[in-house]
Amino acid sequence: MTHWLDALDLRAPVWQAPMAGSQHHVLAAAVSMAGGLGALPAAMLTPEALRESMAALRQLTPRPFQVNFFCHQPPALDADALRRWSQALRPYYLEQGLDAEAIPQGPGRTPFSAEMLAVLREAPPAVVSFHFGLPPMDLLQSVKALGCKVVSSATTVQEALWLEQHGVDAIVAQGLEAGGHRGMFLSTDLNTQQGLFVLLPQIVRAVRVPVIAAGGIVTADSVRAARALGAAGVQVGTAYLKTPEAATSAVHRAALRTAQGSDTALTVLFSGRPARGIVNRLMRELGPLHPAAPAFPLATAGVAPLRAAAEAQGLGDFSPLWSGQHVAAARECSAAELTNELIAAWHSRRD
Ligand SMILES: Cc1cc2nc3c(=O)[nH]c(=O)nc-3n(C[C@H](O)[C@H](O)[C@H](O)COP(=O)(O)O)c2cc1C
Repeated sequence: MTHWLDALDLRAPVWQAPMAGSQHHVLAAAVSMAGGLGALPAAMLTPEALRESMAALRQLTPRPFQVNFFCHQPPALDADALRRWSQALRPYYLEQGLDAEAIPQGPGRTPFSAEMLAVLREAPPAVVSFHFGLPPMDLLQSVKALGCKVVSSATTVQEALWLEQHGVDAIVAQGLEAGGHRGMFLSTDLNTQQGLFVLLPQIVRAVRVPVIAAGGIVTADSVRAARALGAAGVQVGTAYLKTPEAATSAVHRAALRTAQGSDTALTVLFSGRPARGIVNRLMRELGPLHPAAPAFPLATAGVAPLRAAAEAQGLGDFSPLWSGQHVAAARECSAAELTNELIAAWHSRRD
């Protein structure tokens, strides 16, 4: 069942997690060149920017990579909800000397579209992955018709079965310890979310397609543990944030340097969907799951000016400091070094 994974011709099935807003083609190229699978996140790119990023990546490596999209249903603009969000943010606008009468609204991320498909068609990548389920069937079939392998994240056994029934070629089992957005799409109940040690073996038993383990994979031991629990590969995010090839911002890097696992929480404040990040001032003061945060991705726009103002002062008070729980185990090294270590761990056995 894993033959298409083998055909990627990686040194080991070590995948760099796509991380929108925190990395560009440079990290993807470094990982692919080292023999893993680099990833280009497209959730915050225009079609034109995606075209340029894919071309730039191909300038740096002939090796395969994945391109990643969000595929959420854009929410209706709910004026009352946006007003409540503006009210919650207003004191911070006043404090930062920003115009509280002009708190921006609007989407911060766009889902996969026919325009993005047209860019993929020009030069299809080996793997196309989705977060938050799958795009409409006609778009999905068109991606598959390009010869791309399709992957998506599951956070429950139900989601894994749904993805398999809808034709994915592999499933990323995203454990609760993972940094960034929860890929959950069949339920909004956070109590359904499970740690990787619980989730992974259940999904492996439930589906026939290969399962890639994500969440807390940082060290050689965690790679071996995922493999022992039936993973066909690993997908690693947070550990790559500390590499110089990532576009991690200065405030984010500083927070990652000192964070412990207990310093992260799931929050809806930065986008409207639950995502794991290092607790900062906004999360502490509003509470990470504040009910006034509007539906994904509408929470993003209102926080953006606060984030920019604080970052200009060297503060991450209003920034999404995405991080997984295993952050403290990640050391600062090059992306090639990290990839080599993870690849060696995949092939090693612990006696
Ligand atoms: C900074 C950051 C940004 C992320 N952005 C995306 C994204 O754009 N698309 C996606 O599918 N997953 C995204 N994720 C989630 C990862 O795919 C993956 O599930 C997670 O990084 C694995 O857990 P780890 O961070 O403990 O390695 C992001 C994670 C982080 C840390």
